[in-house]
Order: sequence, then structure tokens, then C-alpha cells
Amino acid sequence: MAKSDSAVEHATDAPDDVRPGDPGTGIVLADAPVNPGFPPHRPRVTDQDPKKNRSAERTVFTLFYISIAGSIWAVASYLAFPIESGNLADVRMSTMYIGIGSAFALLGIGIGAVHWAKALMSDKEGIDIRHPIHGSDETRQTAIEIFEQANEESGFGRRTLIRNTLIGALVAFPLPAVVLFRGLAPQNQDPVVALSHTMWKQGLRLTKDPSGLPIKASDVTLGSVFHVIPDGLYDAPDMLEEKGKAAVLLMRLDPGDLHPSPGRESWAYNGIVAYSKICTHVGCPVALYEQNTHHLLCPCHQSQFDITHEAEVIFGPASRPLPQLPITIDAEGYLVAQSDFHEPVGPSFWERS
Ligand code: FES
Repeated sequence: MAKSDSAVEHATDAPDDVRPGDPGTGIVLADAPVNPGFPPHRPRVTDQDPKKNRSAERTVFTLFYISIAGSIWAVASYLAFPIESGNLADVRMSTMYIGIGSAFALLGIGIGAVHWAKALMSDKEGIDIRHPIHGSDETRQTAIEIFEQANEESGFGRRTLIRNTLIGALVAFPLPAVVLFRGLAPQNQDPVVALSHTMWKQGLRLTKDPSGLPIKASDVTLGSVFHVIPDGLYDAPDMLEEKGKAAVLLMRLDPGDLHPSPGRESWAYNGIVAYSKICTHVGCPVALYEQNTHHLLCPCHQSQFDITHEAEVIFGPASRPLPQLPITIDAEGYLVAQSDFHEPVGPSFWERS
């Protein structure tokens, strides 16, 4: 109680126009918290027992070896499970094993570095007083001394096995990324040609995604929507790439609601229209259809396309309409393509004329 009274007394001694916190006018209360300082230093077991020290050292370089092995594993997995076949089982295996290798590569470096710092590097506690930043000779000399001291205390120069395995792990770690990015390039194909064409061609049936069942025009009721892939997609050598280009949305509107431009009057069949599902902004699937307004919405950046006006852009960052796939029916009444798209699908690329 006496302490509290003294604090109030001290505080009321301040002039009326001075508030606590004003620069140069701080009021130190008598019951202000006291800096507790550092807790007593507890020496680590690795500093007291040479055996534990060697064991920690072994743990650290073993973790770096594990990291190297993880990187090599990831590269080997990439080679062992090629995904060019488009076989989903291969893609799953490749993803899983590359992921496992990369995880070990990253964790090995991370855990090894933390364990090295905690168990082996210098355990001295100190206070680094702030001072102005400048580059005088004296400061540089101090910096060099600090580096040398850090080198000495961390053992970076002395513990050569740890240092070299860490360098090896850091060098090996980016290798999976190099081979993975290489795998993104088209195989033996001119990328411009590959991006300009899809597997749609005259007479190819439109089938449901993912069942692959053909679609009869009579089954497409007014207002319905179908996610569509080309017949035979699952047998294509580059199934995933082909699907990424050829995916289509099929809708049926009242033919009176459609406003085709000259030359495109025959691209729809009885109000059934097919448009590329690949957004012309940056390629997300445009899969949200608003039945009443006949608008297609891309969920990525909210571009909207008006199906009644050849999928022209009415909102959002997409710069051009979704390409239309000309369709008709075959002798059995199934919907088929009249041709490929008449322009490249998806986002613009720099070679496009
Ligand atoms: S990808 Fe469709 S709006 Fe951006």
C-alpha cells in the first residue's frame, strides 16, 4: 500500500502540461517493472560430454547426407516414372515419389542446420548494443573480426565434414527443380503449333467428362450444361495436355437468344453451343454457368462471358471471347465437331498473330 501511495505521489509531482510518454519527460514510477535480466546459464550436454558432442556432429552430417539422398531420389523418381504417357497412375507415382524426395532434401538441410546451431555452435549469450550504421575502417575491421570469431565458434572452417556435406546438400537441392522445369517443355514439338491446335476435328464426337460417353443432341435439354471432352481422349498419347486444350462446355439455349455473326450461323445445333472451357485470361477452367442470364463466369478473376453473343467478354480481365467449337450431329444423332477451333484456345501467347 505504501509503495502504491508513493507511486501516485511521484506521478502527481509532474507539471500539469506534461504527459507520460512525451520525449524527455518520462516519469519513472516507483513500482515500474524491473528488467529481470537473463536466466542463469545452463551449459549444454554437448559442451560437457565429448561423446555427446561427437554424436551431435554425426547427427548433423547424417541429416545433410539424407538431404543429398532426398535430392537424388527426387531426380531418380522423375526418370523412373515418366508422365509423358498421360497415364494417371504414372502421374500419381511421379508426384508422390518426387514429393517424398524433395521433402527429405528440404527437411535434411533445415533440421541439420538447426541442430548444428543448437547443439554445436557457440552457446555464449551476449548483448549486442545498437550503434549507428557506417562503414568506417574500424567498423569493417570489427566485421571481419566477427566473421572470424563466428567461423571459429561455429566450427565452419574446422568441421570440414559437416561443412562439405552442407555444401553438397545445398548444391544437390535445386537439381530436382531443374529436371522438373525441363519436363514442362513440349516433347519434340513446336510449342506454337502445339498451342494453336487441339485434337478436335471434323466428325469427332463430343463426350461427357469424365465418363467419355457420347452425347445425343436429344438428351441436351433447354438450360442444361455438359462438361465435354473429345471422343478417344483417354487413348491420346499426351492425354493431360490434350485435355488441357480441348475441354469444352456445352449449353443449350433457345435458338432465338443466340446472335451469331455472319459465317457462324451454322456453328450451333438447334440452340446447342460449345465453347472452350479454357479462360482466355490465364487459362483457368470457366465452369460456372448462370442459366438465366446465359453468362459464363471464370472463378479465378471473375471474367464473365455472354454466351448469347458468341461468348464476348462483358466483365473482367479476359481480353477476348472464348473460342467457339463448331458442332453438328452425325447420322445417329450424336453431337460431333465440324472442325477444330478456328483460333487458339486459352491465354494469349506472344507468337499469336
Ligand atoms: S483466368 Fe479467368 S479471369 Fe483470370
